[in-house]
Amino acid sequence: MKPRILLTGANGQIGTELAIVLPPLGEVIALDRQQLDLSKPDDIRRTIQEIRPTLIVNAAAYTAVDQAEKQEAVAQAINADAPAWIAREAKKIGAGLVHYSTDYVFDGSKHSPYEESDPPNPLSVYGKTKLAGEQAIQDVGLPHLIIRTAWVYGTRGRNFLLTILRLASQREELRIVDDQFGAPTWCRDIARGTASVLARLMADREGALSLPATGEVYHMTADGVTNWHDFAVAILEEASHVPANVSWLRAATEGRSLVAKRLSPITTAQYPTPARRPAYSVLSSSRLAQRFGVRLNEWRAQLHSAFTDGEVQ
Ligand SMILES: NC(=O)c1ccc[n+]([C@@H]2O[C@H](COP(=O)([O-])OP(=O)(O)OC[C@H]3O[C@@H](n4cnc5c(N)ncnc54)[C@H](OP(=O)(O)O)[C@@H]3O)[C@@H](O)[C@H]2O)c1
Repeated sequence: MKPRILLTGANGQIGTELAIVLPPLGEVIALDRQQLDLSKPDDIRRTIQEIRPTLIVNAAAYTAVDQAEKQEAVAQAINADAPAWIAREAKKIGAGLVHYSTDYVFDGSKHSPYEESDPPNPLSVYGKTKLAGEQAIQDVGLPHLIIRTAWVYGTRGRNFLLTILRLASQREELRIVDDQFGAPTWCRDIARGTASVLARLMADREGALSLPATGEVYHMTADGVTNWHDFAVAILEEASHVPANVSWLRAATEGRSLVAKRLSPITTAQYPTPARRPAYSVLSSSRLAQRFGVRLNEWRAQLHSAFTDGEVQ
């Protein structure tokens, strides 16, 4: 029988792309925040009981990293409590759960890529609530995958790519931190990577969509490493080759042309933010490659693809 997949957060960066790539794997019921508000446990319970999915893919989250410092209770409800409710309901009906988490569960004190087995130590409320979500799912003990990704961007939503394009259309000089290192990852590649993992699991189990019984954590980011400043330089390089009338680019710049002439590197200390961020949060995705044969492209190649092929239909 065709698996039935319940997708939450269907309007987010990763959620939008999942709604496009998951349908070949099964019947997808994609719900956005209006259709399923994860701050309401009763709605979570009722929805899962009514739909009775084989698999739940939770792409919803409270992702406003700085705002979370002042809204800890909301971040906790969406990032930690809701995954626990989802996991409990999923377990009752024998469904599996795919859940996303973040590089910000680490403190950034390492100097080589973080492995799944490295001890987390989040610096921010966002990171703490995401880690609590991971642990809650593990405590429920249902078949699951936790996929940690990083520095997510796409051509819609709120992200660094769109912020840089907007600012570059307003100011001649942008000052951008160059002492935080990570791997910018295109939301479409994360969705495709997730679909490949699920397809591989189905192939291993003769078409049944069942996840590892005790749950596993995988890192899934673009290959390579950069810093925010160099990422911004690459963004403006790519933008200079793309016609200004591409609709997502026009929306990002509100129709203005790009006027930025200087991208000046600054330190994190020169740009204080409410949330502390890890100085180094590169994740090693080798476990993912070894287990599923899935490896995302290098970050620079992904960025090029986002510019040339990034429109969401
Ligand atoms: N963004 C990043 O840089 C990043 C980095 C590492 C890991 N991740 C993880 O990747 C996953 C997907 O993130 P993303 O980048 O796709 O985030 P996103 O674009 O912010 O999407 C998150 C979605 O969750 C929805 N949501 C928020 N509160 C909700 C609620 N109460 N009920 C139901 N839905 C709610 C949002 O709805 P609205 O559209 O209505 O706001 C949004 O559509 C998350 O687990 C996130 O922690 C993200």
